[in-house]
Amino acid sequence: MNPHLPAITLHVPKLARQVVLRPLENSLEDRHRVSTAYCALPESARMNRFWSNNASLSEKMIDRLLNADQHDHVVWAMLDPQDPAQPGIGAASYWRDPSDQTTAEFSITVGERFQRHGVGTLLLALLWLIARQHKIESFFGHVRTDNRPALRWFGKIGVESTVQSGDIHIIWPLRSPEEIDALIHPPALLPQIADWQRQLAPLIETRV
Ligand SMILES: CC(C)(COP(=O)(O)OP(=O)(O)OC[C@H]1O[C@@H](n2cnc3c(N)ncnc32)[C@H](O)[C@@H]1OP(=O)(O)O)[C@@H](O)C(=O)NCCC(=O)NCCS
Repeated sequence: MNPHLPAITLHVPKLARQVVLRPLENSLEDRHRVSTAYCALPESARMNRFWSNNASLSEKMIDRLLNADQHDHVVWAMLDPQDPAQPGIGAASYWRDPSDQTTAEFSITVGERFQRHGVGTLLLALLWLIARQHKIESFFGHVRTDNRPALRWFGKIGVESTVQSGDIHIIWPLRSPEEIDALIHPPALLPQIADWQRQLAPLIETRV
């Protein structure tokens, strides 16, 4: 995928606004966005996403986020085109597991004031779709045991969880929209994820 292709503009009903979705790029603008967004995160969100509460994000980590190959390592951000001063609404990424090419580690952060507006679910649906296009069959992640919002959210996606070294290891299959439709009792957020993927697929397919 070419990270410099035009962004997707989409209306998010629960946010009541248009948002822009695009891969992060190796530009001064995105470097500034990433470091500003990190500094604005509360301590708990830094720990939950980056597993550290450093005052600023290291240059090495910023470089990694801005130089994703958009194939094995994919990083997308959601931006508010009406508010250029706002560094970002949220961002999500996955890394393909080098020891098992069919699975990838998923991470996400939604800005505090944008949570519970469907942003995380939309970003997940987007990365889910892209991952399937790159032959990834499951996502996994690590969640801190005290991260109740994430545990509630992942619970509604229907993940399998195990406790490993004091953290919760989660894994879930990247079902197609048709496979989700065929589930008799789908986990609560899967139908929404299938709907987003149907909307996003025509916008994404030409980019991969
Ligand atoms: C976990 C996280 C990504 C969820 O993103 P979000 O945009 O708030 O989630 P959504 O709005 O899509 O949530 C969909 C549903 O999940 C459940 N949910 C999400 N957050 C919840 C919370 N704090 N408490 C209870 N349920 C929650 C709800 O059922 C919600 O639907 P509803 O708001 O209509 O009730 C967000 O809280 C976050 O970024 N946390 C900090 C970073 C982090 O922990 N990342 C995960 C580890 S990688």
